[in-house]
Amino acid sequence: MQLKQADINHRAFRPTDLRDERTELFGLSLETALRRKQVELEIGCGVGWHPIETAKNLLADEQALIAIERTNNKFLAFKRRFENHPHLQNVLTGVHADAFHFIAQAIPDQALAKIWMLYPNPEIKRPNNRWYRSPGFRRALMALRLGGRFHFATNLSEYALAGEAQTTRLGLRLLEKQLITKTDQPNFSPRTHFEKKYYERGEQLFDYTFEKVNEAP
Ligand SMILES: C[S@@+](CC[C@H](N)C(=O)[O-])C[C@H]1O[C@@H](n2cnc3c(N)ncnc32)[C@H](O)[C@@H]1O
Repeated sequence: MQLKQADINHRAFRPTDLRDERTELFGLSLETALRRKQVELEIGCGVGWHPIETAKNLLADEQALIAIERTNNKFLAFKRRFENHPHLQNVLTGVHADAFHFIAQAIPDQALAKIWMLYPNPEIKRPNNRWYRSPGFRRALMALRLGGRFHFATNLSEYALAGEAQTTRLGLRLLEKQLITKTDQPNFSPRTHFEKKYYERGEQLFDYTFEKVNEAP
C-alpha cells in the first residue's frame, strides 16, 4: 500500500516526499494512531515478536504502537504474524520502511511517548551510522515528547557504554539500566528473537530506559 498524504496527521510538520512506493502500512491507520493519547514507535522490529506482545497490553482508543522494519523478508514475517492477531488491528500499525526516513516524513515533533530500539545493528564497520551519532536518530528524538521514554537494548558492552556516554548530549537522562544474564535472572522472559538468542547463549544483556529531558541542541 502506498502511503497517502491523507493518511497523515498534519500537526506541526511538513511532509516532504511521501510517495515512496516501498512504504507499506498495515493494521491501524497512521492517522488514527497519531491521534491517540499515548503513541509508541519501534525502530527495527524484526519479525515482530515485541510489537505484537506489547500491543496486546495497549488500550484501544488511548494507545497505539507504530512498528517499523526495513528488511523485506523480516517485514513479511511480521505481517504474517500480525495476520494471526486480527484483534490488534485497532492498536498496532506495521510499517515497511527505513524508520529514520519514515519518521522524518510522517511523524510530527513531540508526537511520541516512547521509542523502542532493541538490539539495533552495532554498525561495527560503519560506527558513524550508530544511532547516537546519526542525524536520523536526532530527528527521531524530535518526534519524542519531553518526558517521553527511549528504550535501547544490546548484548555488546562497548556499544552499550558508548551509547550511554552520548545520551546527555542528545537531551536524554538515564532512568534505568539493567544487566541481565541467564545465570543471574533464570526467570527472565526475552522480548525479541535476538534477545532470546543472546540470553540463551549466556551473554550479558544491557537494557536501558532513558527520559527525554530537553531538545538536543
Ligand atoms: C539485529 S536486528 C534486531 C531485530 C529485533 N529488534 C530483535 O531484537 O529481534 C536489527 C533490525 O533492525 C532493522 N533495521 C536496521 N536499520 C533499520 C532502519 N533504518 N529502519 C528500519 N529497520 C531497520 C534490520 O532490518 C533488523 O531487522
